[in-house]
Amino acid sequence: MTRRDLVAGMDIGTSHVRILVGEIINNEAMNIIGVGTSLSEGIKKGVIIDLERTVESINRAVEEAERMVGAKIGPLNVGIVGSNVGLVNNKGIVAVARDDKEITEQDVERVLQAARVIALPQDREIIDVIPREFIVDGYDGIRDPVGMLGVRLEVEAMIITGAMTSLRNLLRSLNMAGLEVNALVLNSLANGEICLSRDEKEMGVFLVDLGGGITEISFFEQGALKDIAVLSVGGDHITNDLAVGLRTTFELAERIKIEHGTVLENMISDNEDIEIEDISGREKRKISSQELFNYIEPRVLEMLQLCREEMARFGFTKAPPAGIVLTGGVSLSRGLAELAEETFDCPVRLAQPEYLGVKSPIYSTAVGIISYVARNHVIRQSTRRTENKIGLFNHIWQRVKAFVLDIWQ
Ligand SMILES: Nc1ncnc2c1ncn2[C@@H]1O[C@H](COP(=O)(O)OP(=O)(O)OP(=O)(O)O)[C@@H](O)[C@H]1O
Ligand SMILES: [Mg+2]
Repeated sequence: MTRRDLVAGMDIGTSHVRILVGEIINNEAMNIIGVGTSLSEGIKKGVIIDLERTVESINRAVEEAERMVGAKIGPLNVGIVGSNVGLVNNKGIVAVARDDKEITEQDVERVLQAARVIALPQDREIIDVIPREFIVDGYDGIRDPVGMLGVRLEVEAMIITGAMTSLRNLLRSLNMAGLEVNALVLNSLANGEICLSRDEKEMGVFLVDLGGGITEISFFEQGALKDIAVLSVGGDHITNDLAVGLRTTFELAERIKIEHGTVLENMISDNEDIEIEDISGREKRKISSQELFNYIEPRVLEMLQLCREEMARFGFTKAPPAGIVLTGGVSLSRGLAELAEETFDCPVRLAQPEYLGVKSPIYSTAVGIISYVARNHVIRQSTRRTENKIGLFNHIWQRVKAFVLDIWQ
């Protein structure tokens, strides 16, 4: 019997909110049957700064997708930016309390509490402390020390931290939009799912998502996500430079950039003049494609160089064996792969999700979320709208934790 599950993935980006509905057939094939897009308002650098405007953007995208599917969208799977979640390793040490030196659950509880003592940046909270191993009087590798005898109990623990304000606001905006949430998925995992081959992930590869407000760099090796960095640069900065430089509106600058821009000098067409209007819309003038290039290229080069510096911080002076894969809206810039190859001095490939109707890197995060959720069987069978906010929040965290552990363990 054919089994069909509908899975909805939502990418709340700085420039667009995108919702895709995927039909998963027998847990294998995926068809995208619904698409909803809206211009993103209320989000800056991947973070919600205006709840009501974000809710409006979400609602517009949801309505469009629901019209296309002809049904209400079920529980959503939502992407989160890597900077929202962090992992820190820490140690805890306590003296065993009982006189007969038998280790109790209370000792384990105390040592885990001791491991929680770390300096956290403002806004970060500890979501969970996961013991990697216990050490009893210097003997390491112990999984469960309860009942053992010893004087000193230590733990090597992994502490999961979350940028709580931004995550709470994300959940709040979805709640205000009347939407149920099934899972939060790291954007990096979602993109990796759809943009990279198994071999690339195994050999070692950087995946760079060049978005509107942020650039997320993910490093995969041995089949797993190993590291993430998020830079506050994106295509909107190029558009801003253009709007200011050409004294025109952001909208027109965006259109000119996409229609006529290039990042390679040899791609400039000699005799192309581009008509632009000033901010008031009254005065028209012409600019050459060379002039346009002069605004765009330095910014793009700067973005790529910042990526390169970040990769060096990961410990890479040379690219990993499978090179670099680019996705996100900016990866559509004419000539970008070539410029990136020059800058990174390694093979660079553009990601192209091959799904009907969404064959563009701007959809890779949303498609990836669906694929990730379907493949990892995290489709919740039933959700209750009545869950209170705290309950919902805890429930979601269980899922974020599951994903985080899935990757880094
Ligand atoms: N054909 C194109 N050429 C150049 N730039 C493009 C093109 N198409 C889209 N862009 C740029 O890509 C950016 C949007 O990318 P994307 O849709 O991936 O961002 P987002 O996911 O909404 O934002 P973020 O990931 O930063 O939160 C915009 O700056 C846009 O100008
Ligand atoms: Mg994005």
